[in-house]
Amino acid sequence: MSHLFTPLSLRSLTVANRAWVSPMCMYACEDPAAPGVVGPWHAVHYGQFALGGAGLVLTEATAVLPEGRVTPQDAGLWSDDHVAPWRLVTGAVHAAGGRIAVQLAHAGRKAGHYRNLPGDDDPVGSVPVADGGWVAVGASEEPFGDYAAPRAATDADLRAVVAAFADAARRAVAAGFDAVELHGAHGYLLHELLSPVTGSRVDGWGGSRAGRERLLVDTARAVRAALPAGMPLLVRLSVSDVAPGGLGPDDSAALAGRLAAAGVDLVDCSSGGLVPGAEYRPAPGYQVPGSAAVRAAGVPTAAVGLIEEPWHAEDVLRRGEADAVLLGRAMLRDPHWARHAAVALGDAAGPREPRYHRAWRRTVLAG
Ligand SMILES: Cc1cc2nc3c(=O)[nH]c(=O)nc-3n(C[C@H](O)[C@H](O)[C@H](O)COP(=O)(O)O)c2cc1C
Repeated sequence: MSHLFTPLSLRSLTVANRAWVSPMCMYACEDPAAPGVVGPWHAVHYGQFALGGAGLVLTEATAVLPEGRVTPQDAGLWSDDHVAPWRLVTGAVHAAGGRIAVQLAHAGRKAGHYRNLPGDDDPVGSVPVADGGWVAVGASEEPFGDYAAPRAATDADLRAVVAAFADAARRAVAAGFDAVELHGAHGYLLHELLSPVTGSRVDGWGGSRAGRERLLVDTARAVRAALPAGMPLLVRLSVSDVAPGGLGPDDSAALAGRLAAAGVDLVDCSSGGLVPGAEYRPAPGYQVPGSAAVRAAGVPTAAVGLIEEPWHAEDVLRRGEADAVLLGRAMLRDPHWARHAAVALGDAAGPREPRYHRAWRRTVLAG
């Protein structure tokens, strides 16, 4: 039996295998009268990965407050009105035998830009208020590159952000999710305050390591308290800021220990996104060393980033560099990646949707 298709238990959740779908923004909540509301498209999109055998599907960044959306078309969980539509999505994944976690997010100073999908004729950059945009809320008034300048969050704003994450987590439980992930990476609000590069506040939300970590750690504690004891809590970190003077693997490994003490069960190890133009050239497994560093500190991890070949995924797990692997773009190209990987690894324990059994045979039978 392969490592990839060995089940993984976190609290009372058992995930059938360790080939998971990475969170990916889809910007598909297109009704301006119902912001943040997911629909049938999302049920098909997330359900397809479960049919294809992925053990755990993570959703796109899902906003805990409307001003925390990356684009006006982001998914949300800031309102009770979002719960019933999400139930259709979690139901689709469960019906296909999968498990699903929501990634809760606040994009901070990176919020509020046009989505710019191919075919959109929107300009690039921040959406003006007159065109349905809003003023972003950040750690300071410093903008991200050429985005519109945010306003600096007040103490009351940051307390409200912690409460909004906890409220969204309660809604996630009501919506049928199996786990919750906090987006603490990519220069979004939790990461913005965390890093010494952007966390320039000198109040109780900055000014020292503990101050910079406060928003993330307080949020983790509040969300943990909002979840049933058996439900896992994950956090995505940029293990390396990839910016001069920024956090690196040793800092993140130590932080992971403090997050585990706050009730976090697994750290999803990404990198970068904090400042524009950070220089790094992704190669296969480029973020795996970050995962290995955090795992060496005794905290379970998921590795992500150009892990696309089944034997590569297997090797990351076999070497003890991660407890699970997340795939993004490879899953979009091939939602049946997990089934293909089981065939490649020769693992009979891999996922199989019984209704599709004839797809994996050479003989064609009528009827
Ligand atoms: C279309 C797209 C949307 C993404 N949106 C998110 C997101 O919402 N939250 C997040 O943490 N990462 C996001 N990412 C990053 C992915 O989760 C993943 O970390 C990255 O693509 C590297 O993995 P890969 O090489 O397997 O694609 C996104 C990536 C893509 C390609």
